[in-house]
Amino acid sequence: MKRLTIPAIRKRKQDGHTAEPVVMLTAYTARQAQLLDPHCDILLVGDSLGQVIYGLPSSVPVTLDMMIAHGAAVVRGSYHAVVVVDMPFGSYEASPQQAFASASRVLKETGAAGVKLEGGEAMAETVAFLVARGIPVIGHVGLTPQAVNVLGGYNARGRSEAEAAKIVADARALDAAGAFAVVVEGVVEPIAVAVTEAIGAISIGIGGSARCDGQVLVTEDMLGMFERVPRFVKRYENIAETIASAAQRYAEEVRARTFPGPDQTYQPR
Ligand code: KIV
Ligand code: NA
Repeated sequence: MKRLTIPAIRKRKQDGHTAEPVVMLTAYTARQAQLLDPHCDILLVGDSLGQVIYGLPSSVPVTLDMMIAHGAAVVRGSYHAVVVVDMPFGSYEASPQQAFASASRVLKETGAAGVKLEGGEAMAETVAFLVARGIPVIGHVGLTPQAVNVLGGYNARGRSEAEAAKIVADARALDAAGAFAVVVEGVVEPIAVAVTEAIGAISIGIGGSARCDGQVLVTEDMLGMFERVPRFVKRYENIAETIASAAQRYAEEVRARTFPGPDQTYQPR
């Protein structure tokens, strides 16, 4: 199977209309990527791995080396989907040159096809710089978790008129700079729709609207790995319960000396 390409995904939106919505999920490991790959257009190695994998309080402490290690694993585990890697906080904001140095490491060391970064108008020059030099970019507007220390939390954005106008202006700036897609996170529905209509790029909603050009969720959230998840998460499974139950049965059998049984035990011939 030939891997999808970013231009092929971008072309799905024609004259403001996306016939086939873009399916994106996060992936951090090779085996997880392998399982998700046939069903997704884009696998995002999100910096949400800070909280999901490493138990960090936010994505702010995530490093470029962490993203590269997990990005390479996801590329190794996938054959079909486009792999995009999040640029972590501090690896791209200082200048277009800093962003290019970091993003080129990501592409060279992981085999991923593109990067994602947070921010709108303030990042437009950087996005144009990367795209002109061969690095496809997804933008990310609305609730931008790397800015948690400025925003003060993870509340929905775009409830005031000024905030709403700023989010649409940010998305427009990213589109004009050449981003092929824009993640629209945690915004009231009319803003997600306004962004989708305002840009030629693919809008990818997470806590956005069903009218976005595509959707993304954190895989562990939709699998039910966590008790506390944002309202925009739909749980498709309850994996936490499955894992806890398996561990409990294993522990009981070890303590009762009924595991290993005859099937799991080698005998001399
Ligand atoms: O880090 C992440 O997982 C993300 C997606 C939720 C869009 O940025
Ligand atoms: Na992210």
